[in-house]
Amino acid sequence: MATTYRIAVLAGDGIGPEITAVALDVLQAIAPRFDLEFDFLPALVGGSAIDAVGEPLPAATLTTCRQSDAVLLAAIGGTQWDTLPRHLRPETGLLALRAGLGLFANLRPAKIFPQLVHASSLKPEVIAGVDLMVVRELTGGIYFGQPRGIFTTETGEQRGVNTMAYTASEIDRIGRVAFETARQRRRQLCSVDKANVLEVSQLWRDRLSALSTEYPDVELTHLYVDNAAMQLVRAPKQFDTIVTSNLFGDILSDIAAMLTGSIGMLPSASLGESGPGLFEPVHGSAPDIAGQDKANPLAMVLSAAMMLRYGLNQPAAAQAIEEAITAVLDQGYRTADLMAEGCKLVGCREMGDLLIRQLSQ
Ligand code: IPM
Ligand code: MG
Repeated sequence: MATTYRIAVLAGDGIGPEITAVALDVLQAIAPRFDLEFDFLPALVGGSAIDAVGEPLPAATLTTCRQSDAVLLAAIGGTQWDTLPRHLRPETGLLALRAGLGLFANLRPAKIFPQLVHASSLKPEVIAGVDLMVVRELTGGIYFGQPRGIFTTETGEQRGVNTMAYTASEIDRIGRVAFETARQRRRQLCSVDKANVLEVSQLWRDRLSALSTEYPDVELTHLYVDNAAMQLVRAPKQFDTIVTSNLFGDILSDIAAMLTGSIGMLPSASLGESGPGLFEPVHGSAPDIAGQDKANPLAMVLSAAMMLRYGLNQPAAAQAIEEAITAVLDQGYRTADLMAEGCKLVGCREMGDLLIRQLSQ
């Protein structure tokens, strides 16, 4: 009997719906081969939810997600919603979803496809062979710390405030995920902080060092975030697994993304203690190309593969999808963001059709 999974599908804004359509078709295409069945449960999030029901994370969406086996999310946001009050912005919906599902661990792999070495803005010899994983804390730190807001001081001046805070237990639980992740990889963990200036980082560093005694097989190193940013573009191959806080991870994962040629190639997994994980591309909603069939659907398809691997424990199905992507890139097909001389330019839909053709061979 086939295994049936309930997948909450949050297509979101901008290019979200078009890349989602491709990912769902790819999942349907591999389902029979691995004896899987998918129940896709569409739900609203972000700007499209604001337009439809007046809020970026409707309660019904959170309920659908909680009742699912995994959540697949494309992208949210767009300039038309940027001037709304903060609690009504698309990004607030995404953060509430992460918090609501308790998704404290965000895994962002950056692995270069050899076919795309020339698509990066960095020299091929610097990036060929890059294979790293950013483990980003996702439900704490300055994104969620209190107090926050724009206040008025006694002298009548405005003052903007955010708070970067971590408890020891928040650091320990992301630390454990990172050590376990490194264990499955090359057993090198680099913790990134700003302990030369910030107390919150000092605690981070102390806890990571203490934890490392439980993982003697993993080599732990520490870098300050400014140096880590520099090292990522100078010599990225030195990194295996990176663990860092919410804000630093946001920034470093965009840098890591660019090492792979295009942010259009990077998936991510957000996991909690239990319950469904959330799988989404690292890139945004790209409103400038939305609806034009120009978007690269591969990060979204790779997110579906991550969902199979980390969320549903179906590694063979995940691998089949990843191999199909490699094959289609080998055949020279590229979306506009990856286009290079001698390659064949395809749109979002056609890239999806090529993957499906590859998978049905
Ligand atoms: C990301 C994004 C989000 C973040 C935004 C859209 C809130 O940049 O997933 O990296 O900052 O976490
Ligand atoms: Mg980001």
